[in-house]
Amino acid sequence: MAQSEPWIVLHGRGSSLVLEAVPGEAPLWRYWGARLPDGAGPATPLRQERPTPSFSPDFDQPLSLVPGLGQGWFGEPALKAHRGGRDWTFQATDCSVRQDGSSAVITLTDAVTQIAITVRLTLDPCSDVLCVSTELANQGDAPLEVQWLAAAVLPLPDHARLVRSFSGRHNTEFVPVEDRLTRSQWRRENRRGLTSHDCVPGAVVLADGAAYGAQIAWSGNHCQFIDWVDDGRWQWQLGEALMPGEVVLAPGAVLTSPEVLATCAADANGVAQNFHAAIRQRMDWPGGRMRPRPVHLNTWEGFYFDHDEAALKDLADAAAQAGIERFVLDDGWFHRRNDDTTSLGDWWPDAAKYPNGLGPLAEHVTALGMEFGLWVEPEMINPDSDLYRAHPDWALQLAGRPLITARNQLVLDIARPEVSDYLFEKIDALLSAQPIRYIKWDHNRDLTTAGLHDGAAGYRAQVHAAYALFARIRAAHPEVEIESCSGGGGRIDFGVLRHTHRVWTSDCIDAMSRVGIQRGFLQFFPPEIMGAHVGSARAHTTGRTQSMAFRAAVALPGHLGVELDARVLSETDAAELKAWIQMYKDLR
Ligand code: DGJ
Repeated sequence: MAQSEPWIVLHGRGSSLVLEAVPGEAPLWRYWGARLPDGAGPATPLRQERPTPSFSPDFDQPLSLVPGLGQGWFGEPALKAHRGGRDWTFQATDCSVRQDGSSAVITLTDAVTQIAITVRLTLDPCSDVLCVSTELANQGDAPLEVQWLAAAVLPLPDHARLVRSFSGRHNTEFVPVEDRLTRSQWRRENRRGLTSHDCVPGAVVLADGAAYGAQIAWSGNHCQFIDWVDDGRWQWQLGEALMPGEVVLAPGAVLTSPEVLATCAADANGVAQNFHAAIRQRMDWPGGRMRPRPVHLNTWEGFYFDHDEAALKDLADAAAQAGIERFVLDDGWFHRRNDDTTSLGDWWPDAAKYPNGLGPLAEHVTALGMEFGLWVEPEMINPDSDLYRAHPDWALQLAGRPLITARNQLVLDIARPEVSDYLFEKIDALLSAQPIRYIKWDHNRDLTTAGLHDGAAGYRAQVHAAYALFARIRAAHPEVEIESCSGGGGRIDFGVLRHTHRVWTSDCIDAMSRVGIQRGFLQFFPPEIMGAHVGSARAHTTGRTQSMAFRAAVALPGHLGVELDARVLSETDAAELKAWIQMYKDLR
């Protein structure tokens, strides 16, 4: 239905938003907060309600859905782009609004710069989560270089006072950081090429009697900032962070932003509940629905690289005894992989450890009634690998710059079709040869020298290529579930969760540390996708010793797993673990 009223109103279960449509301009943000009674809202256009301050432009420019640049809005714009130094002042000259139930699509065109921006807003009445995305079209006849496109511009009330974001590193994910909002800009920007441990792509803003949350569904570089607005409110922008020259739109081309999920509630717990509901609704499960989460055994901390087929079969026997339902063979199974210095890229079973391939172990596991899962790290390559010796040019690199390894590895340029074809063929062969129903998909380093073949920055191309590879593998093997892992929790976001079904929350499975890590995780994501394992009594990461009851109770609210050598548990511990696993099955 085309909009004729000045008000664009969307109602959720507990929240509402109101935009004021103004002919020939971007709609003005009037309200986002607790649900308004039907029919309530502003009565008068904003410019009639307030005078312009003295010595200011005579034409008032309040916060809009797409703040412009250079025409009287002095805050951060939603778009920074230019054509060779020209056409840098986006300001809508025409606006069309279509509203349909809980959604509104607003298209702004600027006849001067020949740029169009379309913002899509949906306020889901069940979860109360507002989903926003933005599309930029170059309607001119010369390329448009884009430096910033806000995926969402959100208003925050004048009583917003504190922003809680989450930082961290390997083994210490989701560390809450609280900053008071001041007139200086609050900003978090991630340039690590993937979601990152230290810059969780979302935050919660606490106001008097209300909390506002937002997160961006994107697994690459991202930026969010909160700016004070002259009228006392705040604007919160989130979007992809672009490297110089990374997006140059050809005439007629379109740039689509990732989605932002945003919600407001009475407090941070309400924000978490709404996010959980929205993500739950939109996860893409094999068969269309989540089945009860199978209890895992993961081999990493019990065996590390020390794979021995007979010992792993004994481990599987002990796991089945304990009630475990999915056996995940972690790192160490492939060609010459005896430590973390070699072999990434050589995705076939090691002939010494698995002389008859993975079939015998996989069949042993499935005969015990468990699913078989396998660890891979597709986007990586070790310089000491057959793949690197054959294709040194396949690693992301920049001419004239040294290659920088991390954990002895480089990153593959998976945007090159021949590279993603190679990875697809290798993974497809593994999944076709064995009854593998689960992939733990790791990514153990940040991106550096992330240059494409032509020298351009390849960060966002890498993310899109990873999403395409996930999708291709899922299309070929629709029954397979995927876990997103990145040195623990370095790739946890709703973008990767559109393709995956679980995340590995942290390599730290010390239960004491996990309490805080999991609390931070749960601010944004639901518990059933939160990988949570019972580790050995003495935690490998911290050296602290903890009782079985404490370790199991902390893991119980997530997707439960066990990560220890179950062959060597005492009788008492084995019985206790079995009882906790049974409790999980009763409750899940
Ligand atoms: C990092 C992961 O977080 C661990 O769980 C494990 O899979 C190792 N990589 C294997 O190299």
